[in-house]
Amino acid sequence: MSPKVIAIDGPAASGKSSTAAAVATRLAWAHLDSGALYRAVTLAALDNVGDARGRGGGGGGGTASERQPPRGVQERRERGEQGGQGGQGEHGDQGQSGERHPWGPQQIVAIAESLPVRLVLVGAAFRPEVAGVDVGEAIRSERVTRRVSEIAALREVRHWVNVQQREAVLRHAGGVVVDGRDIGTVVFPDAPLKVFLTASPEERARRRLAQRGQAIDPTELKREAAALAARDQADSTRAVAPLRAAADAVRLDTTVLSLAEQVNRVVALARERHLG
Ligand code: CDP
Repeated sequence: MSPKVIAIDGPAASGKSSTAAAVATRLAWAHLDSGALYRAVTLAALDNVGDARGRGGGGGGGTASERQPPRGVQERRERGEQGGQGGQGEHGDQGQSGERHPWGPQQIVAIAESLPVRLVLVGAAFRPEVAGVDVGEAIRSERVTRRVSEIAALREVRHWVNVQQREAVLRHAGGVVVDGRDIGTVVFPDAPLKVFLTASPEERARRRLAQRGQAIDPTELKREAAALAARDQADSTRAVAPLRAAADAVRLDTTVLSLAEQVNRVVALARERHLG
């Protein structure tokens, strides 16, 4: 049986999350923003492992000892318990993201498991929590945005995030609108409706600045467009679950559409397919 999921994928700042949230409200479904979960894992790694140059997150300072997992994780490891899934990718092919990475993927998954990083249903939205704390704002910081694609390229991290998403959808009695990069291709390939949102790079940069309440001047637009392009490039060219439209996705260019128009289009597609 296909999952009761609408998959909305697309590049950075293409309007996926706002569209997904509004579509979910219209259909009385829940909303799951998978990017928020990758961001929460990144935040947890930054605060608990330190960055790749050895500056610790939570405690400051900066030696290799700070890149040890939190105590609970270390203790469980010493008892030989697995902190999380590792090694096996979504498509079953091994390795590549592994040992050379300055942030050990297994260590990041162990931290996500132990803190824990979790999806919690608040109202009709699955929200990421780290150690029981809502991190909705903290995950939008520049330092998280800068590093999230690096973390999201790790096979073991993707596997862990996918398990969280599938469990959340399975546990939920109703339908879920899930947005991300690989929802229609990898996470829910049997979703009865897949939408791939695009918009011109300039428009996406403009929307992102507006969303942050920043001035929309030519210099800022150029800087933001370059940052988005770099993230798209990283997300599209990674070995594991790269950003791309599923063969059966409906493509929607939203460059000249308002949010209300794009939401209407997706809701219409859902109704055509007897969803919601
Ligand atoms: O909101 P924005 O479009 O800027 O990004 P996001 O949806 O919050 O996703 C942040 C990052 O998480 C992306 O740039 C990807 O690297 C990663 N991501 C992913 O790899 N797969 C997903 N399904 C969702 C996000």
